[in-house]
Amino acid sequence: MERNPIEGFSKLTKEEKIHKIISDYLDGDETYRTILQQYWNQQPELQKLHDEFSENTISNFYMPYGIAPNFLIDGKLLALPMAVEESSVVAAASKSAKFWLTRGGFTTTIINTKKLGHTHFIMNVETHKLLHFFNFQLKERLMESTNSITENMRARGGGILNIRLIDKTQELPNYYQLKASFNTVDSMGANFINSCLEQFGQTLREEVAKSDHFSDQEKESLQIVMNILSNFTPDCIVRAEVRCPIEDLNDESGISNSEFAWKFKQAVTIAEIEPFRATTHNKGIMNGVDAVVIATGNDFRATEACAHAYAAKDGKYSSLSHCSIEGGVFRFWIDLPISVGVVGGLTNLHPLVKFSLALLGKPTAQELMSILAVSGLAQNFAALRSLITTGIQKGHMKMHLLNILNQLGATEAQKQYFVNYFKDKTVTHHEVITQFNQLKEQQI
Ligand code: MEV
Repeated sequence: MERNPIEGFSKLTKEEKIHKIISDYLDGDETYRTILQQYWNQQPELQKLHDEFSENTISNFYMPYGIAPNFLIDGKLLALPMAVEESSVVAAASKSAKFWLTRGGFTTTIINTKKLGHTHFIMNVETHKLLHFFNFQLKERLMESTNSITENMRARGGGILNIRLIDKTQELPNYYQLKASFNTVDSMGANFINSCLEQFGQTLREEVAKSDHFSDQEKESLQIVMNILSNFTPDCIVRAEVRCPIEDLNDESGISNSEFAWKFKQAVTIAEIEPFRATTHNKGIMNGVDAVVIATGNDFRATEACAHAYAAKDGKYSSLSHCSIEGGVFRFWIDLPISVGVVGGLTNLHPLVKFSLALLGKPTAQELMSILAVSGLAQNFAALRSLITTGIQKGHMKMHLLNILNQLGATEAQKQYFVNYFKDKTVTHHEVITQFNQLKEQQI
């Protein structure tokens, strides 16, 4: 069928949007309408709420929402909410939590909570002249001009921490930045930071225009390129760690404690020196982090971008977690830069997000940073523990078994039968299909 660009799609009603999509993209096949509708919430108010989170919404996309219990974090016992589709993530988290529960649990330290943003601008002017203008005139004006924007945040104990002029002309001719740092207390602060930065851009333009410090030519060369927060927040960082005497490690696989510790440390060191491994290693960490980020209504694209930028901060992509064995003590830790909020955004709107935050005891943003770092570390511990002992597929395929059986259309009784059948056997896609077909033949 000939397809034409869709004009004014966002202005159509939901019903009209669905009709348009089915007729233009799905050969008019109305069975697709049923797929969309079966994911609508039966409560119209709740459906409307979800529709309004985004644009052009025609259905909801469900993700499993699970709980990983038994996390002892800084002496508090917590159950973590996890929204994730990968079948082994919640099980891995729970297993790690249980392992460390009897070994002192997880401890965390907030190292800093500073967030950053920039006004990026071009100006053909000598750096010392601009610096003088910044120090003796502009900086104070930038602060004053954002007073009304920062008022509430200051009342909550946050605000603009500092503003600096950064000379970037060695990397791009005439390129400078106003680099600002912020404390956004319990909010992620993206809107707050961007509003301040946009005001900085405007104030910079106005102050340069009326200053007698610059020639007309210099003034005309000023171009504000953009004002935007940075999702790289290396100074908004939390450390989570576990430690125990090597003799307490006792892994269920039967490997000796000292071999477990040695192999584990080797696995972490390999991720520290080898980017190919570091990428998968960190992906595993983010399995744990993102699931809790999503469940608490935070922005997982931001946390992903930040974590990977941090992993490459020394010029070579490396592991986010580290391990040491000293004086007979096994220690495993992560330094995770992460900017999240517990107020604003979806936190007051999405009922499941409210549930997640209540489940976590209504944490502050700093406490949530700690929980997220622990979730990442626990996930990494579980992955490495499997990798250096049984291998990852055993656990993964066990969890994947139900997905395969669902694809095959197995009944509840058949699922139960195969979960039992594969308890002491290796699950492979081929073997599940073979056994499933055999069972069906026997039953016919
Ligand atoms: C799978 O989602 C994540 C792992 O590959 C992580 C790792 O290899 O460390 C298991």
